[in-house]
Amino acid sequence: MTKSPMLTITIVVITVICSLSLSNAGSPAVFILGDSLLDVGTNNFILKAIGKAKYPHYGIDFFNSTPSGRFSNGLNMADFIARVVFGNSVTSPPAYLSFFYGGVYSEKRLANAIDFSPRRRWRRPTNRLQPVSLVGRENPAIGANFASSGTAILDINSAVDQALPLSEQVAQVMYIHGNLSGTIGSWKTQVLFAKSPFFFGVGNNDVHFFALFRAKLNQEEYIDSLVQTYNYTLHTLYNLGVRKFGIIGVPYIGCSPLMRVTTLHGNCSDIANALARQLNEGIEHMLQDMMASLKGMIYSFGNTYDTLYDMYETPERFNLTNVRDACCGLGRFNAFTNCHPLAVVCKNRDEYLYWDVSHPSQYALQILSEAMAFGGLREARPINWARLVSL
Ligand SMILES: *[C@@H]1O[C@H](CO)[C@@H](O)[C@H](O)[C@H]1NC(C)=O
Ligand SMILES: *[C@@H]1O[C@H](CO)[C@@H](O)[C@H](O)[C@H]1NC(C)=O
Ligand SMILES: *[C@@H]1O[C@H](CO)[C@@H](O)[C@H](O)[C@H]1NC(C)=O
Ligand SMILES: *[C@@H]1O[C@H](CO)[C@@H](O)[C@H](O)[C@H]1NC(C)=O
Repeated sequence: MTKSPMLTITIVVITVICSLSLSNAGSPAVFILGDSLLDVGTNNFILKAIGKAKYPHYGIDFFNSTPSGRFSNGLNMADFIARVVFGNSVTSPPAYLSFFYGGVYSEKRLANAIDFSPRRRWRRPTNRLQPVSLVGRENPAIGANFASSGTAILDINSAVDQALPLSEQVAQVMYIHGNLSGTIGSWKTQVLFAKSPFFFGVGNNDVHFFALFRAKLNQEEYIDSLVQTYNYTLHTLYNLGVRKFGIIGVPYIGCSPLMRVTTLHGNCSDIANALARQLNEGIEHMLQDMMASLKGMIYSFGNTYDTLYDMYETPERFNLTNVRDACCGLGRFNAFTNCHPLAVVCKNRDEYLYWDVSHPSQYALQILSEAMAFGGLREARPINWARLVSL
């Protein structure tokens, strides 16, 4: 049978329309940078990294109850970000370092992760995330995750945990950009970077280290240097073509088991909370300046500070029964040790705010993420995640 010219033309037209669909509204991929709230296994590839979640009881509520490198009993915030972008069945895009095989970078793995013609159909959640089901498996979203546990805004702070510094994560983004430009062409790469949201969750460790070791430094100067470094980081990515920024603010972290176990009466660390609040203000101002001066730049600033505060003030509203202790750990507040195979684990993990000494439970992470994704101006400004990813 010979194809009619008309049919051929139709096929050509359809193909062209499909390959241009990148330029329509929406997010073709998602990229994630930051610290242990978002790490999905990066540190397992870094020999010297101190923070690793590769042993039980991490992942006890993950698929097959397997530790995956996430500092959570199950999914972490990177997974909830991916669900907002691509739908409830999706998990975080793979760790960038998993694109290497035996130390050698594999172009094919990158191509698989950033697949332009996925056969899967995505369905975005409309106004809330579904409960996490243990039945299923990892279903990585399109994109890449660079986050590393221990990463801070300042590279000298990332060095404390031998994490991948933020500057190094940015260099990896640039590497992908260069490699994609070579394989799919610079125009497609440009569209991909402009349309895909880049999420950042960093600053927690800068606040931790200040409260624990550096409280004698001048607080204002410290915050200035953090904001300037963050500013420089985001400008670098803007200059690379990134336009959609999802910035996760620093939560109300002074009452975490980690902070409380280090204070005399087990009180909250007022230093940490005050620093987090001021850092958030500085970052939000910086973002407002960026949007006013940089063409096409758009952001969503996630106010995790107030949401976490609410969870402490009215735990019953969130069905939480324990906002003081870590679910997994040993000693006072279960906070003397990190979660490890010999630690005790609570049964009712969805009633605990904290999974381990410094990381919220999957349940709490879902509440925090949902607030930023679908909440109003108090939770995410000037737009929420759902809006950001639909632009
Ligand atoms: C991707 O990176 C690898 C490793 O540096 C390099 O060998 C390869 O040529 C790059 N491909 C493209 C298309 O840029
Ligand atoms: C951020 O960087 C830009 C460009 O270098 C600069 O104009 C702006 O003043 C900086 N903002 C802050 C808050 O440092
Ligand atoms: C710390 O906690 C103790 C005991 O709960 C309380 O009496 C004290 O006022 C608290 N101190 C501060 C500075 O909040
Ligand atoms: C708390 O639990 C009740 C009863 O199971 C449920 O109806 C409600 O939606 C829950 N609230 C939240 C915030 O999950």
